[in-house]
Amino acid sequence: MKVLMVCLGNICRSPLAEGILDDKAKKAGLDWTVDSAGTANYHVGEPPHRLSQKVAKLNGIDISKQACRQFKKEDMLAFDKIYAMDNDVYNDIKRISGDLFNPGKTDLLLNEIFPGENVDVPDPWYGTERNFHEVYSIIDKACNAIIEKYAPTLKGVGHLNN
Ligand code: 4NP
Repeated sequence: MKVLMVCLGNICRSPLAEGILDDKAKKAGLDWTVDSAGTANYHVGEPPHRLSQKVAKLNGIDISKQACRQFKKEDMLAFDKIYAMDNDVYNDIKRISGDLFNPGKTDLLLNEIFPGENVDVPDPWYGTERNFHEVYSIIDKACNAIIEKYAPTLKGVGHLNN
């Protein structure tokens, strides 16, 4: 399965989502491709925000090698599942994708844990380190739900050693 995580800047939230899901998929022995992108081009080529890097590292995940890229309409064809971090991002994905937009493969990330509620992952860009920890925690829960949904017999990576 090929999964794309999308936020506005591809600097704070979606790099964390990429790093977290990629880590869980690898630990679960799943041959997945996980990538991320931003709907804006403000930070193209830059590594993730220093606080996203720090919080990931504190949780044992290295996202320092990631480089920001912008979402493009062809991503709609190249990926099986595309997760938007918030409602504005979802609408931007729809706008950028144009006639290629596929609502069947696009969803808000937090609908995996709050089905149908269309809850946003809050943008920590103007926040503190605490906000980045909160964002990490909610994305981590959503990624556990994704792993359990698509690889149900694995029951999440925490149970793999049984
Ligand atoms: P992200 O956060 O979408 O989670 O990467 C933001 C990053 C940068 C900006 C806004 C949000 N910005 O305005 O530059």
